[in-house]
Amino acid sequence: MSINPKTTPIYQTSVFTFDDLNALEAYFEEPGQSYMYTRYGNPNNEELAQEINRLEQGQGAVITSSGMSAILTAVLVYAKAGDHVLCAEEIYGGSSSLLSQELTRLGLEVTYVPSAEIYALEGYVQPNTKLLLAETISNPMMVVTDLARLAETCHGKGIKLVVDNTFASPILTRPLALGADLVIHSVTKYLAGHSDVTAGVVIAQSEADAKRAAQIMRTWGLNLSPFDSWLAARSLKTLKLRMRAHAASALAVAQWLAQHPKVQAVFYPGLASHPQHELAQTQGNGLFGGMLSFRMADDQEAVNRFMRALQQIPFAPSLAGVTTSLSYPLGTSHRGLTRELQEKMGITAGLIRLSVGIEDAAEIIADLEQGLAAV
Ligand SMILES: Cc1ncc(COP(=O)(O)O)c(C=O)c1O
Repeated sequence: MSINPKTTPIYQTSVFTFDDLNALEAYFEEPGQSYMYTRYGNPNNEELAQEINRLEQGQGAVITSSGMSAILTAVLVYAKAGDHVLCAEEIYGGSSSLLSQELTRLGLEVTYVPSAEIYALEGYVQPNTKLLLAETISNPMMVVTDLARLAETCHGKGIKLVVDNTFASPILTRPLALGADLVIHSVTKYLAGHSDVTAGVVIAQSEADAKRAAQIMRTWGLNLSPFDSWLAARSLKTLKLRMRAHAASALAVAQWLAQHPKVQAVFYPGLASHPQHELAQTQGNGLFGGMLSFRMADDQEAVNRFMRALQQIPFAPSLAGVTTSLSYPLGTSHRGLTRELQEKMGITAGLIRLSVGIEDAAEIIADLEQGLAAV
């Protein structure tokens, strides 16, 4: 009997067997040709890693259990106790908690760099500085980072650039081609895209860094389950189609919101009014992504009325699923920041973040219209 499945089956096993000692030796001598233990490697993780590596044009990718463990892995590739790490001030709240609350306890030093100073890094780099962590598109204000310029600055100062490309996805932007050393994703978001997987990935510019990331993933136990890898690999097959649909609907929704009398400001790189609109156009491959934020009156009761009036769009503190959802940065992702930093970043009581799904824009707009009518 010959069984030839068209798609990769789920290898839901924690361990693999060997016929004899020669097979064990072959495992060690020919890496990638067989498997021993799922924490070290599994065909489903491997399939997902290879596909993401191809999309990001890397020299190797490592799948991890979450976006957070991908960030941890990336930092540990370059930094150890006694080293100094730079981080863009506008960064996902979980990334700054990891750096400031956990990695500092292990002896890392962390400094945050405001957006205005990021391309010069004047006075920020110390002899023990190893890397800068930044996002392609920041959350929730959608500031677009000029990655080629940032990579030049970092390399000129002898440090590595690690880019969180979660908001853009490789369909918009490939940071390695622009000079980044490592790219990470919360695969939980666009790459998996259906709000049913938590996963992460690190993609490397060099084979040596990819190997080191794999070692860290295995030794710290940061691996993903085969089933979640299988789900994410399945989702990747529609990534390009989904990103185009997200971007088309998001642009139409952003344009509609921008002319609504109850909306004070819209933050979306696809609008001509966005400060990095032109950069976003070239760096985003003509697409601007599916994420946007907008500000209504800074009145939490009005925000509550808006949320309750929506029929289709749930308040769900995540993003990048195929159906539209909204989040509230002040109460969720940026809750832990000081009031001063929240205000500096523009995260006020009326700021709503919208993760535009792949529905037709008219459907999303109709729901937003009735929500705004209740404000
Ligand atoms: C930009 C960004 N990076 C990383 C993460 C962390 O990813 P995960 O929740 O998969 O651990 C998130 C989560 O929201 C995120 O938005």
